[in-house]
Amino acid sequence: MAFDIDMIKAVYEKMPSRIEAARKSVGKPLTLAEKILYSHLWDGNATEAYERGKSYVNFAPDRVAMQDATAQMALLQFMQAGKAKVSVPSTVHCDHLILAKQGAEEDLRNSLTASGEVFNFLESVSNKYGIGFWKPGAGIIHQVVLENYAFPGGMMIGTDSHTVNAGGLGMVAIGVGGADAVDVMAGMPWELKFPKLIGVKLTGKMNGWTAPKDVILKVAGILTVKGGTGCILEYFGEGAKSLSATGKGTICNMGAEIGATTSTFGYDDSMERYLRSTDRADVAEMANQVREHLTGDDEVYANPEQYFDQVIEIDLSTLEPHVNGPFTPDRATPVSKMREEAEKNGWPTKVEWGLIGSCTNSSYEDLSRASSIAKQAVEKGLKTKADFGINPGSEQVRYTAERDGLLKIFEDLDATIFTNACGPCIGQWERSGDNTRVNTIVHSFNRNFSKRADGNPNTHAFVTSPEMVAAIAISGDLGFNPITDTLTNEKGEQVKLDPPVGEELPSKGFAVEDNGYQAPAEDGSNIEVVVRPDSKRLQLLEPFKPWDGKNITGAKLLIKAFGKCTTDHISMAGPWLRFRGHLDNISDNCLIGAVNAFNKETNKVKNQLTGEYGPVPATQRQYKAEGIPTIVVGDHNYGEGSSREHAAMEPRHLGVKAVLVKSFARIHETNLKKQGMLALTFANEADYDKVQEDDTINFLDLDQFSEGKPLNIEFVHADGSKDVIVANHTYNEAQIGWFRAGSALNLIKEQNK
Ligand code: F3S
Repeated sequence: MAFDIDMIKAVYEKMPSRIEAARKSVGKPLTLAEKILYSHLWDGNATEAYERGKSYVNFAPDRVAMQDATAQMALLQFMQAGKAKVSVPSTVHCDHLILAKQGAEEDLRNSLTASGEVFNFLESVSNKYGIGFWKPGAGIIHQVVLENYAFPGGMMIGTDSHTVNAGGLGMVAIGVGGADAVDVMAGMPWELKFPKLIGVKLTGKMNGWTAPKDVILKVAGILTVKGGTGCILEYFGEGAKSLSATGKGTICNMGAEIGATTSTFGYDDSMERYLRSTDRADVAEMANQVREHLTGDDEVYANPEQYFDQVIEIDLSTLEPHVNGPFTPDRATPVSKMREEAEKNGWPTKVEWGLIGSCTNSSYEDLSRASSIAKQAVEKGLKTKADFGINPGSEQVRYTAERDGLLKIFEDLDATIFTNACGPCIGQWERSGDNTRVNTIVHSFNRNFSKRADGNPNTHAFVTSPEMVAAIAISGDLGFNPITDTLTNEKGEQVKLDPPVGEELPSKGFAVEDNGYQAPAEDGSNIEVVVRPDSKRLQLLEPFKPWDGKNITGAKLLIKAFGKCTTDHISMAGPWLRFRGHLDNISDNCLIGAVNAFNKETNKVKNQLTGEYGPVPATQRQYKAEGIPTIVVGDHNYGEGSSREHAAMEPRHLGVKAVLVKSFARIHETNLKKQGMLALTFANEADYDKVQEDDTINFLDLDQFSEGKPLNIEFVHADGSKDVIVANHTYNEAQIGWFRAGSALNLIKEQNK
């Protein structure tokens, strides 16, 4: 992977001078997060100090990772950019579209049949454009990235919220929407609001049953699901150094559950060991050369309160194992309190399943520690009460764990070994039995929202470490505390489980026969990407039409959305996931969750051509067929939620011209701009009330569209009266260029010609 080594070398070469420039600009010692951010500025050396939580800054990430569900639209868009190859090293990982039902072999076979078309598409696009392709069964994106691509001091983006996992190897790794990935792959800057910084000082050393997972379960309890929003968490202290690299990955991974932009750790011996063990001694050597730059300045860690916006301190020596849930990952309960809590809240204590895996906890160390508990069940004559399911994180982990007998231990407990993929973590678990009954499961994943694993709203899912999953599953009792409680074995004796032991890294080294990686063609120019015209799941994108330079006139109101309108209301997930690569099909969910301000109903709007009420997508399709432009009106924080670009692409595809709201969620506003839409806000919020259901809408001065100049829009009401509403916008000249060209991609394409 010479592409990678050269890139890493270039990053490390630039780092010292860039950090020096940043230190001068900021005027004080730097945290690790600042060092990484400032050494990845798009414009090179820092010339100013950015304001945390305020300044929008352009960055140049080192690499991009995409998973199969989100990669589809990202790559369909990238194909529009007119580039022969991606500009930064990029990879695609097939891990989400894989079932978990009977066991690895059969599930993989069935998934290849069910989603073969999507996998083939991703494979051929990757091959053509120089993108590394990880086949179905190769592993979960974040485990594979940690094993192969993450490097200390690097910056990456990925089209998955748990991209943050790579912080375990000292990266600033951030989850983004597909449109952002396209920008970076097309060689454009990537914009981020300069994050605030939370320092987490870890003292002491873990012992007994405590695992790295407990650090983040504790932090989640402290900060809650929103407490990390807009922040980078930087872990430091002696305790941090005592954790393995994959353990650090677990902690960073679940930073997503507290809304953090990302989390990271300074480079240390554990990272060096991990790099060497995963066949990257060359990266370790290079990192050692710039070691001082791959961690925060001493002064920062000596007086953290002066340099971080918030500081949390956790003593690992006294940290208790935690079990978080149900239904939210921040409901933190120390294991010693679980029985009491469960009884108080009426949570079912009989545990039916214990699941070990997901991108959070599927490393060799995780399997080795959990298997040490499973082994005791056999040795001590215990009968396991719950079922076990295991998803190894990668083929390399699976192969090595099999070689070392770890999987055999689970198999002796009748565990089902699922494919090296997300499986139950993303609702691909076809669990048998009544799917509405009240029950409890424990897992080592990161999210435990209602219905997430098995679609059953009455499944109480609890998140804990893999070793605790093993112990609780063996006992079949949510309230079981392995530190104090005993279990009755088959002979009727009382036995106690000893604390887990395991290997941080396999003593015989990692091994794998076929890791599932497919390198792209050197020259992909002759590779044809085939998408069947009658495909239900994939559709090549047509470039959106450029603006004709004229005012939009005679437009109709598609919907005036009332109250909260998130990207989920605009483009629902769930069953619609399967159409993520087919813009026309997924557009049938356009705005179906938005509440119509005139009747307070969802997916029921007045069709001004017929006077009838009908679904939003069908109504809009009729306007489009008649060549009638439309606008959408919305309330506050329109488009909050995920960064999914479908929420902007669908209305654009269906012919909506403008979205006029009281205020936007910023990412959605940018997405609308990128897709060539008009994203406008009421200069006077009260004007929202002037918009009527039967209005005809005329833009009066769009032909003079320019930076900083509000637009005047005339609303002609059914009775002939008129209101002229002033609409503000935040387009700069470059973004007006996107609008003119029809989309940002069209412009990139023009520039690439
Ligand atoms: Fe996959 Fe679940 Fe992680 S869906 S990427 S294992 S959060």
